[in-house]
Amino acid sequence: MSDTWELLKDECMNCSACPLAPTRTNVVFGVGDPKSSVLFVGEGPGEKEDLAGEPFVGPAGQLLDRYLEAVGLERSKVYIANMVKCRPPANRDPADSEIDCCIDFLRRQTRLISPKIIVCLGRISACRMIDKDFKVTRQHGEWFKKGNFWMMGTYHPAALLRNPNQKPDALLDFIALREKMRELGVWTGEID
Ligand code: URA
Repeated sequence: MSDTWELLKDECMNCSACPLAPTRTNVVFGVGDPKSSVLFVGEGPGEKEDLAGEPFVGPAGQLLDRYLEAVGLERSKVYIANMVKCRPPANRDPADSEIDCCIDFLRRQTRLISPKIIVCLGRISACRMIDKDFKVTRQHGEWFKKGNFWMMGTYHPAALLRNPNQKPDALLDFIALREKMRELGVWTGEID
């Protein structure tokens, strides 16, 4: 049977497959344009996301929005999801076993969206999706062709809030994203 957003969302919203399920307020499925050419992948919901049921709505999300805006992209025109859909308690990193449990939801989202570009936000996402030895400080902004996708890892916005000296590098990564979208003929943003 072919997958659908309805089926996927229904399964995800009712999932109790890992130890994160009992402590969540909301499942944080994902948000944005389901036909976007760009998919952003973070780690897992924080407190604000858990309460709102939407990824990247807390302070890190506000910074992400500013980067999108800075290169003329709108949040509603990309798709934003996480490796795990339920909040790890006290904002700890998601465990490998929790990611293993949840990653199929992200795979199915990726298949339904069929993006041209996947941007990994932070080390955990980049190590899982691009290369297990990915080093954000050294490899951020580099492009990797994997199957049908162009993939890039950049700083996690929460890390940028802790280390503002990395913000100019992160901006260059978003500019590189805009250039890649233009190169692939999928630019939908405002600024030319
Ligand atoms: N950090 C993440 O990785 N994802 C969110 O949704 C929020 C903060």
